[in-house]
Amino acid sequence: MGEIYLPKIKRKRSKLHGWGVFAEEGLNKNKRIIRYEGEKISSKESEDREDRYLRRGEIWCFRINTHWVIDANVRGNVARFINHSCTPNCYANIIGGVIWIIAGKRIEEGEELAYDYHTDGDKEIPCRCRPGCQTWL
Ligand SMILES: C[S@@+](CC[C@H](N)C(=O)[O-])C[C@H]1O[C@@H](n2cnc3c(N)ncnc32)[C@H](O)[C@@H]1O
Ligand SMILES: [Zn+2]
Repeated sequence: MGEIYLPKIKRKRSKLHGWGVFAEEGLNKNKRIIRYEGEKISSKESEDREDRYLRRGEIWCFRINTHWVIDANVRGNVARFINHSCTPNCYANIIGGVIWIIAGKRIEEGEELAYDYHTDGDKEIPCRCRPGCQTWL
């Protein structure tokens, strides 16, 4: 299978929260952008880590299925800085055990990338994706 070309993206300060990740070129809908990398851990292990991270207001753990979670705080790549939005321009899809962040629509150069985290935890962080958003992450 041939290598797929991955587009240029960059970590920069975000208006949503802290660091964010931005497109450095235009991206067509359904373009694979980056893999969400990190340590693969069990759900049990993830519960303890998520408690610890949430006390600092941070979410790094991405659930693949009922058994496995990817912790991007360990060996993560720049994908861990992609913020959440309730009206996102990206989505995450698990393809062959790999989490891909994919363009959900046409994205122009300079736009911040965001996907819906679909968090299933304690909902402790108020979402700031837009003024008046009522979602908790
Ligand atoms: C995976 S990190 C994303 C990178 C983060 N901005 C940073 O600088 O480390 C996830 C954390 O970013 C923050 N975050 C992401 N999207 C957000 C949003 N829409 N509203 C408020 N906080 C958000 C939350 O604190 C969340 O736990
Ligand atoms: Zn929101």
